[in-house]
Amino acid sequence: MLVKTKDKLCKELNKIRVKGETVGLVPTMGALHQGHLSLVKRAVADNKVVVVSIFVNPTQFNDKSDLSRYPRNLNADLKLLEDSGCSIVFAPDTNEIYPEPDIRTFDFGDLDKVMEGKHRKGHFNGVAQIVSILFELIKPDRAYFGLKDFQQLVIIKKLVKMLNLQTEIVPCPIIREPDGLAMSSRNELLSDEERKNAPFIYEILQEANNQTGKKSVKELINWVINKINSNTYLTVDYFEIVNDKNLQPVTSWEDDCKKVACIAVFCGKIRLIDNYFLN
Ligand code: PAF
Repeated sequence: MLVKTKDKLCKELNKIRVKGETVGLVPTMGALHQGHLSLVKRAVADNKVVVVSIFVNPTQFNDKSDLSRYPRNLNADLKLLEDSGCSIVFAPDTNEIYPEPDIRTFDFGDLDKVMEGKHRKGHFNGVAQIVSILFELIKPDRAYFGLKDFQQLVIIKKLVKMLNLQTEIVPCPIIREPDGLAMSSRNELLSDEERKNAPFIYEILQEANNQTGKKSVKELINWVINKINSNTYLTVDYFEIVNDKNLQPVTSWEDDCKKVACIAVFCGKIRLIDNYFLN
């Protein structure tokens, strides 16, 4: 069922709640692909009712041209969700979500001072605005987020704690194309040549994982940046190896934490992100 207003959404959810049924939420910005469908599949397995939200949230875009070129195709999204087992697609317009400008600011400490937060000012504040609005409206028992947006996942877990919410955050694995490129709505914006070269990012992340014993953290970081920049279609925006809990840069392989290699790369004008848990 397609729902466009908060009123209708709350009415439908009230009917579900009186029956004591569990609700899972998959928040998306549309342009759905198999990565999103894997979240929906997991949500359907865990919950009686699944809501998929489709909303290109303007407050999380620091770059106006990125917002205007972001792919939108509600009909194709609905078609893809037809047999997915999701019960409600919530696809509001901007005025429905932000009848007044959202002036809230969230303090995530150091979590949003690095990587995406540093390179896309205000991005995570916007993500927190929309996610908190959706959580407040839907009150999901569980919400599903892909590990591709690793920093987002860590920040949303923090948000849930800060707001004392009951929603369980369920991390889901990165889904890749057969050539290794992490699935992303932005992939459809790549030209043929860019698309052919984009899998190089994952190739190098895998190679980096094999080099942890042979190079220092700093040497490995430089090696990855130089390798990727040597491909004329790719330019590294940042590459960091961070502690999976506090997202602070790891300085030595001896640091007592799981280490995640996180990368953002411009492929032409399109900015792609990926990450790899090093072992
Ligand atoms: O990951 C995304 O697609 C978005 O950041 C989210 C969580 C749907 C919020 O707009």
